Amino acid sequence: MVDQLQITPLHPTIGARVYGLDLCRPVSDALRDAIDAAMDRHAVLVFPEQELDDEQQVAFASRFGPIEDAASGVKDRNPRLANRQINDISNLAADGAIMAADDRSRMYSLANLLWHSDSSFKAVPAKYSLLHARLIPPEGGETEFADMRAAWDALPQKLQRKVRDLVSDHSIIFSRTRLGFEAFSAQELQRAEPVSQRLVRRHASTGRLSLFLSAHIGRIQGWQTPEALLLISDLTEFSTQRQFVYQHVWSRHDLVIWDNRATMHRGRPFDTQAYPRDMRRVTVRGEASTLSESA
Ligand code: OGA
Ligand code: MN
Repeated sequence: MVDQLQITPLHPTIGARVYGLDLCRPVSDALRDAIDAAMDRHAVLVFPEQELDDEQQVAFASRFGPIEDAASGVKDRNPRLANRQINDISNLAADGAIMAADDRSRMYSLANLLWHSDSSFKAVPAKYSLLHARLIPPEGGETEFADMRAAWDALPQKLQRKVRDLVSDHSIIFSRTRLGFEAFSAQELQRAEPVSQRLVRRHASTGRLSLFLSAHIGRIQGWQTPEALLLISDLTEFSTQRQFVYQHVWSRHDLVIWDNRATMHRGRPFDTQAYPRDMRRVTVRGEASTLSESA
């Protein structure tokens, strides 16, 4: 029986470490429920010293819902990893060597360093992401998480009223063009039709409201685009003030789970030409479009 996890908060509102578990082994319903409850509270959980392989990582993630197909993205998939449920978040090419500085795939992935919520460009955006550190650089390459519930709660009431019922359009094209990346294929452009999302969403299990921001936002419905992007930029700046952010400094074999419905995240730079960084992500599908949430 697992009633209580061994858990230490890492920040006043977001992030906690969970000790004493071996996630390579099957996870009981009671343990799964305890992890879900801790996720509802902390939104980001760090499980140190988990020597998972791809199949074990997928098996653990599957306890929390159906898994997104990593090959369902807009970009053609890097074939380094055989398992289609693993997202390759590395700076490694198919042959395992460090990608060249001008590699198209590397340029494409640099948008991971902008604040975002995973798969917000899908009609049903992601629930949990589970990122596992297989190889880390000696410095840099941290991942930061912003508590979008705390940001919503702290937003001045006047601004809350202004944004509460807004609907934004998300596409992976918007986050890439934000950095000046334009080398999309015709097929990628076709696959990247924008999807609509509420700007304020209600969490399915806690009932809490949060700002649903992401670098993938390119428009607000009914607004002129420059004004929309200014508002998104202001809200992002507000939500990512240090008091809302937990920065994770990785150790090898950390598994970090975050709730994309309540957080944003971004990677931080490292020397991508000197060191391999091999991170692998499994993404649990959400249950419904944010448009069906009554915020
Ligand atoms: C991700 C992501 C950032 C990082 O895996 O979804 O955005 O630090 N990662 O690798
Ligand atoms: Mn991400």
